[in-house]
Amino acid sequence: MRKSAGVSRIPIRLGRSQYGEDVGFDLAADAAHIAMQGKTRSGKSQATYNVLAQAAANAAVRVVGSDPTHVLLEPFKHRGVSEPYVVSGLNAQATVDMLGWVKRESDRRIDQMWPLRTDKFSEFGASFPLILVVLEEFPGILEGAADEDAALGRKPAERLAPRISAYVRQIAAQSAKAGIRLLLLSQRAEASIIGGNARSNFGVKMTLRVDEPESVRMLHPSASPEDCALVETFKPGTCLFEKPGEGRQIMRCDFVGEYGRYARAIESSDLRFLATLQQDQAQREFFAEEFGVVDPS
Ligand SMILES: Nc1ncnc2c1ncn2[C@@H]1O[C@H](COP(=O)(O)OP(=O)(O)OP(=O)(O)O)[C@@H](O)[C@H]1O
Ligand SMILES: [Mg+2]
Repeated sequence: MRKSAGVSRIPIRLGRSQYGEDVGFDLAADAAHIAMQGKTRSGKSQATYNVLAQAAANAAVRVVGSDPTHVLLEPFKHRGVSEPYVVSGLNAQATVDMLGWVKRESDRRIDQMWPLRTDKFSEFGASFPLILVVLEEFPGILEGAADEDAALGRKPAERLAPRISAYVRQIAAQSAKAGIRLLLLSQRAEASIIGGNARSNFGVKMTLRVDEPESVRMLHPSASPEDCALVETFKPGTCLFEKPGEGRQIMRCDFVGEYGRYARAIESSDLRFLATLQQDQAQREFFAEEFGVVDPS
């Protein structure tokens, strides 16, 4: 039988537990959206650089998203693979266009589920990638869009802020089975940015230092007052971490280094090259299986 070129595991390493064990999650197998919160200087950027550098180096992952800070996703605009759906800088219309494309792609994939007699997509490759939708400083994206709606006096039906919220809600609720993952970043999780229903679709949760117990409980509803007090004392890079099927734990995120290092890693991750290697490997495996003479390695 012919093997597929896809992968069903996309492990992302985050750091170490307090017992020295590796901690991370699997973008493919955990099938969960990711929420990360942390106040300024809590180590949010370091943790995000780490996740995105690993995602960028995997030909089975397509990174899209919106980044009002102009920093986090900027390197994705400068690499060999042209990606129209990376919005670097505050741009409400481009964010709506990006999310609209994600939603259409999600619908297209979901329409394919019945013909393929499957209830979810769990294998990804260069020709059918997992799509990671990064929303950096999500409250800032919404605020920027709302300011623009007000400044231009847009009528309710034309407003962009509610459309961004609606797309994110819909994608959170429906798109994990279509191989789409949200990575939503904020200084603190607030009910006004992700409502209760949508929030329950975020299975991978990272809380770096935050000062309000409500923010801790927003992402980790069963956190005790002691947990919340502990989070307020976290050093940069220390994180309360939760993923599907595992309890809460405290971990240390890996330290990636300065921004330039991250930027160069993204800029130089050549997805076409990686995809070709992956295709070549799949072909070798196919020939080796069919003809039994070719060394697949
Ligand atoms: N995992 C880590 N291990 C050790 N030190 C860390 C770690 N993460 C962050 N730090 C330290 O904390 C500083 C701030 O980290 P980082 O820039 O990631 O925070 P941030 O939450 O993104 O802050 P900002 O609000 O300024 O964007 C780093 O320069 C580094 O000195
Ligand atoms: Mg930062």
